[in-house]
Amino acid sequence: MPNALITAVGGYVSDKILSNSDLEKIMDTNDEWITTRTGIKERRVLPEDQAVSDIGLNVVQQLLAKSNSRAEEVDLLICATCTGDYIIPDTANNICYKSGLVNAFGFDLNAACSGFVFALYTAAQFIETGRYKKVIVIGGEKMTSYMNYEDRTTSILFGDGGGGVMLEAGEEYGVIDAILKGDGIGCQMLKVEAGGSLKPMNQERLDNREGFVTQDGRQIYKRAVNGMSSTVVEVLERNNLTAQDIRWLVPHQANERIINSVANSIDFPMEKVMLNIAKYGNTSAGTIPLCLWEYEDQLNKGDNVILTSFGGGFTWGSLYLKWAY
Ligand code: ACO
Repeated sequence: MPNALITAVGGYVSDKILSNSDLEKIMDTNDEWITTRTGIKERRVLPEDQAVSDIGLNVVQQLLAKSNSRAEEVDLLICATCTGDYIIPDTANNICYKSGLVNAFGFDLNAACSGFVFALYTAAQFIETGRYKKVIVIGGEKMTSYMNYEDRTTSILFGDGGGGVMLEAGEEYGVIDAILKGDGIGCQMLKVEAGGSLKPMNQERLDNREGFVTQDGRQIYKRAVNGMSSTVVEVLERNNLTAQDIRWLVPHQANERIINSVANSIDFPMEKVMLNIAKYGNTSAGTIPLCLWEYEDQLNKGDNVILTSFGGGFTWGSLYLKWAY
């Protein structure tokens, strides 16, 4: 059975910055509160005429160049997102079209902030069958489209951006194991109320600002720490590893305090934890590939890496891989 190896990583954010001091001008908040409660200093905002497929296009171009692949060789593209360009069609198809991936099929995967981890493990299964040789996984979001900037409890957290990886069939170890979980408990605790099939958008819902993300921040906080910590421990144990054996922990970037608590609870030194939330905030399915992209120079062949995430639904899990280059 072939293994699924990451052979390239890419990332994309726009140049436009929304800083804490910018937010101070439009809502009752301040840099000190946001920094101490979340670790976020600024986020990126995609221009109005760009969407998740533009993140995907940029990332695919990087991945093709870095992995010496031709567009025609790519078999499949999975796009993890909950803020795709349209409800119909899916964004993966659009990315394939824009990037000239003429022989690839594509589909979106929505597991909110856990989307990239779920998509990466899904993609690895396609490679492991032996039928697919090159699969691209994108995780990207335009979260600012769903932010109510009159709601200071949520809108300060999120930004736009994302990244992705090229997965290729190989002999050496790549994606090794994952523990993925979900429950429906989170449905009422983190959502966009209207705009789906249950509550299609109408004028009344628009006026009530039901097209934006709302959340129960405290509940999510506790469950995120538990969910990420427990699945990291489970995946370590199942593979006879301890925290000492792991070179990098790559946590979903929701809140720096959540990340610190996860690291603390599993005895993981922060020097081995990827962290970039200060610059980008929470880009949902985009955070983990953005971390891999930024830390690429510090990753070495054979490094044991654990990705861990928690998101709406709730969805959560941890994935163990060996870095392949
Ligand atoms: N600026 C200033 N004050 C604020 C702000 C703000 N932006 N937001 C809330 N406050 C106030 C509140 O009104 C409250 O005031 P009060 O005491 O007078 O009532 C006070 O600050 C404390 O509010 P809490 O909600 O208790 O603050 P907390 O420390 O829990 O932090 C936060 C809130 C940052 C949302 C935190 O709960 C959190 O990060 N939760 C996780 C949410 C999350 O990550 N969601 C993303 C999606 S899921 C995921 O990615 C894992």
